[in-house]
Amino acid sequence: MALRNSINDSARKNKLSFAIFGLGRAGAIHFGNLVRNPRATIRYVVEESRDRADQVMSRWLFDHVEEGCQVLTAAEAKKVYEDHSLDAVIVCTFTHTHEEIVKKALAAGKAVFCEKPITTQLSATKSCYDLAEKQRKMLYCAFNRRYDPSIRHLQERVRNGAVGQVQSIKTCSRDSPFPPLAYFKISGGMFHDCAVHDIDVICWILGQFPDVVYAQGHCFHQELSGMDDVDQVAITMKFPSGTIASIDLNRESSYGYDQRIEVFGSGGMLETRNYSHQVNVVGHLGNQGASAEPLPHSFPQRYAEAYANELDYFIDYQLGLDPHIEVSRKDTVMATIIAEACEQSYRRGTPINIKDMME
Ligand SMILES: NC(=O)c1ccc[n+]([C@@H]2O[C@H](COP(=O)([O-])OP(=O)(O)OC[C@H]3O[C@@H](n4cnc5c(N)ncnc54)[C@H](O)[C@@H]3O)[C@@H](O)[C@H]2O)c1
Repeated sequence: MALRNSINDSARKNKLSFAIFGLGRAGAIHFGNLVRNPRATIRYVVEESRDRADQVMSRWLFDHVEEGCQVLTAAEAKKVYEDHSLDAVIVCTFTHTHEEIVKKALAAGKAVFCEKPITTQLSATKSCYDLAEKQRKMLYCAFNRRYDPSIRHLQERVRNGAVGQVQSIKTCSRDSPFPPLAYFKISGGMFHDCAVHDIDVICWILGQFPDVVYAQGHCFHQELSGMDDVDQVAITMKFPSGTIASIDLNRESSYGYDQRIEVFGSGGMLETRNYSHQVNVVGHLGNQGASAEPLPHSFPQRYAEAYANELDYFIDYQLGLDPHIEVSRKDTVMATIIAEACEQSYRRGTPINIKDMME
């Protein structure tokens, strides 16, 4: 198969060279994982803010001169695309800039690891994948929750029938801390920015896409007024099997980053609760009173292992060590369609049939 050829080219190597675009909240995580990964070298950092780039690089004592890494602005990014020996590009810039960077990187023959969402527009997302297929290069959409050990374990057990026929699935995703106001201007909105994670993980656990969605939302934060966004969302999705999913999202949880999943079926119930491992001391009742392990502060802490694991998967794939496609074109396209259907449902106040959203 065509894609295989490009993998075999890379398989002669045991290391990948990377350019990383954007060293903000997500980029800082991926940068740290690149520094720590013995199979990665960082050849380019492309970041609009030199101060921000210096801050993140210094946190890792990363001497870019010594490492042979060039630090560029977006206007200088041409150097990345013109470097024929560069293997891969990681895209962690503002969502609305992804399409251009992804397409330029693919056109230059680079494999691309792109933060979610690839784009918020269906046609743009599809055209990115069209180019990836034409170029025979991987376009990986970084739905990190799939690589969290506890969520992955839950998915495997559900798929192996541990809860029998799945009848309901619930996710609760409450952000912490409240993102900077500037972020809301470039986030793509609550449905494409936040709900898309829950949509992907639910479809992945079930191995299906929903027929119908219904969403409600409200904005509690005065600061967001005029931004046409919401900070509390409830979504229901009905699947062909009859399973009903509920998603409960909030932008600000005062007690920490709260991320839970519950899958209920004819044969029992499985849940994950805020930690990356299956066995946790989450609470204690004793003669001195009750105590509970504090929740992780935010996504870098909660999903630290997931981010490192997904980078390892991407490198394994490029080196020909893991042939499976974890997040397919269909998964990403459907997540974009379903997130948009949820947003439309909220705006119109009616349920939306997913087939009516297909182009
Ligand atoms: N998977 C996750 O858990 C997760 C978490 C946070 C953000 N994200 C995604 O990551 C992306 C970035 O979000 P963030 O929170 O890190 O944003 P951010 O605002 O913290 O960082 C974005 C960075 O990109 C830089 N930048 C913007 N345009 C650029 C360009 N054209 N070239 C080079 N640098 C550029 C900015 O200067 C900034 O430092 C978004 O798509 C978001 O959806 C994913």
